[in-house]
Amino acid sequence: METASPQRVALITGGSSGIGLALAHELAKRKFHLLLVSNQEAALRECKLDIEKKHGVSCLTYCIDLTIADAPQMVFKFCESNRLEAEILINNAGVLLFTEVVSANAEKLLSILQLHVTVPSKLSHLFGKPMVKRRSGHILNVSSISSVMPYPGISLYGPTKTYLRYFTRALRSEMKIYNVNVTCLIPGATATSLYDPNRVNLPLAMKLGIMKSPEFVARKAVSALFQRNAECIPGVLNKVIMVLIPLVPMWLIHLVHRKTDFLEKGKNTL
Ligand SMILES: NC(=O)c1ccc[n+]([C@@H]2O[C@H](COP(=O)([O-])OP(=O)(O)OC[C@H]3O[C@@H](n4cnc5c(N)ncnc54)[C@H](OP(=O)(O)O)[C@@H]3O)[C@@H](O)[C@H]2O)c1
Repeated sequence: METASPQRVALITGGSSGIGLALAHELAKRKFHLLLVSNQEAALRECKLDIEKKHGVSCLTYCIDLTIADAPQMVFKFCESNRLEAEILINNAGVLLFTEVVSANAEKLLSILQLHVTVPSKLSHLFGKPMVKRRSGHILNVSSISSVMPYPGISLYGPTKTYLRYFTRALRSEMKIYNVNVTCLIPGATATSLYDPNRVNLPLAMKLGIMKSPEFVARKAVSALFQRNAECIPGVLNKVIMVLIPLVPMWLIHLVHRKTDFLEKGKNTL
């Protein structure tokens, strides 16, 4: 008896909003079927309907909190039981934590480490194996320009994105000999729900060119992925920032941190 061949999909974590959703549309335009993974059932349902209607591809969804133990294994099992083959894996789900480490909520502190370090590493391990076996596939890891910013206030966000950048670089070399492409997306400020709209004026920031739209970032990312580029930094300003920021001396960062109230610092009562 003949068994149907598995359905090939692009798997996107955090595919229900922001950059992940824009990547989903960009890939759907290129007729890729999708599997969106995130933790909001209603948002996933809405995205599925919209994508299927707009692009005529199939968009499957899997609702899971990726910070729970074994979440990557559960995503992998979901694909196995539904006969889905990830030809593209996009590790995009992430959160922004803007606080002093000692003031951080313990659960959030752990979740940022899981989302930016553990989950992308485990998913790359699980989905990378069949890619190696097939001698084809793409992995896109979403880092950030904060990866060159070991700064107060983003002491968890920046360094976890540094891990993701260097992990991607090393994984890329390992996978190259198996014809599997691994690319790192390094966005600068992008107008998404990562920011609190009460604190950041997103439309104004986009108008001034300080922020990019998620659609712009996704267009650049997908094109870099298929060109098999090592890294993609969307926007000229962001490319300049990536070169200049590491030159800023840490004493200056300490000074700005001490003299300004940008970060609500020194307010904990430990
Ligand atoms: N926006 C920027 O300026 C910027 C710059 C550089 C890098 N990035 C990176 O880009 C990636 C996407 O962020 P974004 O800006 O597009 O923000 P976003 O719109 O908030 O998207 C984050 C996505 O991650 C998902 N997610 C968060 N926690 C999750 C969890 N525990 N389990 C499952 N899914 C979870 C969210 O799903 P729910 O909505 O369902 O929670 C959402 O789909 C992140 O890795 C971020 O660090 C963003």
